[in-house]
Amino acid sequence: MHDPNLAAAQAYEEALVTTLFGPWARRAVEIANPLPGEIILDLACGTGIGLRLMSPLVGKFGKIISVDNDPAMVSVARQLYETIDNNHKANTEWFDCGAESLALGPNVLDLCTLFQGPNFLSDPQKVLKDVLFSLKPSGRLVGSTWGRIEENKGHYAIATALERLGFQPALKPFSFGDTDKLKGVFTSSGFVIETILTEQKMINFRSVKDFVSGVAAGAPATRHAISQLDGNTYETFFEMVEELLSDYSSTNSVALPTQAHIVLAVPAA
Ligand SMILES: C[S@@+](CC[C@H](N)C(=O)[O-])C[C@H]1O[C@@H](n2cnc3c(N)ncnc32)[C@H](O)[C@@H]1O
Repeated sequence: MHDPNLAAAQAYEEALVTTLFGPWARRAVEIANPLPGEIILDLACGTGIGLRLMSPLVGKFGKIISVDNDPAMVSVARQLYETIDNNHKANTEWFDCGAESLALGPNVLDLCTLFQGPNFLSDPQKVLKDVLFSLKPSGRLVGSTWGRIEENKGHYAIATALERLGFQPALKPFSFGDTDKLKGVFTSSGFVIETILTEQKMINFRSVKDFVSGVAAGAPATRHAISQLDGNTYETFFEMVEELLSDYSSTNSVALPTQAHIVLAVPAA
């Protein structure tokens, strides 16, 4: 039976993690620096890129707890993790629930990761306070979010085209583009920010068509915005995006500038 959520989660992995989210998750993992034996909570885990990158670092004495409120994302993450053939894989635990309703015990986590997640949570402060409760005093939290939409040229083109056609774009993924707002959520939840980085990456797709169809099929928020368009309007929309991205396109690829913030925070003393 066709499950549209499962198809979207698979498209997210195939079209967007391999190209866009994967490189940024790799950078956030460098900042998080997971160590052998650590216990990690990966919130808003999506299809499990964080788990797959961190598992070899924590190894078989470590554990990674993966949480996402979309059961289809969790299902794809589990399947992908099972296909990894390695005796030193981290132990796992899985929850398909909102990060807001997770209730872990006190003093159990070395690290919480929230890659491209803070902007999606309905109550980020509550989630971060719960994380603080469950972190060891020596623990740390690493979160990443997109920068301002204007600095993420592919999504900016999609949002601009939707707006010009009279449709509401998906702005939630960019809602922490302002670093003061992002810092405020962490500090008001009881964390001290050790590092906040704003970095840029060029992300390559084979074509604008690949980028737009990947987003339309798998992006957690933007796919819903694009789904407002009927067939004819989609064609017009696509032509507009292609025109808006012409400066970044060449014969065989499109190289899209992206920007994200990565925060490393620790419990306030
Ligand atoms: C952009 S994806 C990021 C996934 C993954 N961390 C990555 O870097 O590929 C955002 C994820 O947050 C999940 N999500 C949204 N709201 C959530 C919530 N309240 N609790 C847990 N997960 C949530 C979505 O289902 C989606 O998988």
